[in-house]
Amino acid sequence: MYKLIAFDAYGTLFDVYSIGELAEELFPGHGQAFALMWRDRQIEYTRLVTMSDPSPGGGKYYLPFWELTIRSLRYVCKRMHLSLTLEHEKRLMDQYAKLVGFEDGLNVLKTIKEKGLSTAILSNGSREMLTTVVESNGLKPYLDKVVTIEDVRLFKTAPQAYELLLKAFPVAKEEILFVSSNAWDALAAKWYGFDVFWVNRLGHPYEEIGEKPNYEGGSLSEVLEAI
Ligand code: LAC
Repeated sequence: MYKLIAFDAYGTLFDVYSIGELAEELFPGHGQAFALMWRDRQIEYTRLVTMSDPSPGGGKYYLPFWELTIRSLRYVCKRMHLSLTLEHEKRLMDQYAKLVGFEDGLNVLKTIKEKGLSTAILSNGSREMLTTVVESNGLKPYLDKVVTIEDVRLFKTAPQAYELLLKAFPVAKEEILFVSSNAWDALAAKWYGFDVFWVNRLGHPYEEIGEKPNYEGGSLSEVLEAI
């Protein structure tokens, strides 16, 4: 019934918290808290710039995701009183550019392609960082398109961001299954009108607002059971 299986990138295909290990080396005793706060602040910045000017074509406060990732890194280091040298910043951002993918990702994408369905990423990420992370994880041959919100300069959860999938593929809303490990992203995609699969690796509760996801599983592999 689905024609396109579209994946969120950061947190869903690529492990944003894998950065915690390097962070622990750089900031002993703070790695995990740092990684969590960095991720939260990065997402908060995307919401702040988009909500403060949601004009079609992109708001005046828009900055690319890569830039917001650096700015949030600097903020979190100041907030946690961690000294961020230029070398630290470079090492963290280099690692961010080549985040490790979850191990079942490649096989899941390959299997979906073998079933004759289309595959895509829909991400807040900047074009260049997405190209790098997709290639460093060997996913390129199994993705029909990597769609970035850079084209509308409005971050998820703006509806214009989800709409990009309908512009990129000749499919109807109901023919898309959107996969995300970020509950807020799954929820907003469901509000937009897609069926959604929430990858809940950590056994978290779902959000207390919005409709429940169509599917929930503990790993990407379980997506294959839904299609
Ligand atoms: C993305 C972030 C939100 O890839 O995970 O869009």
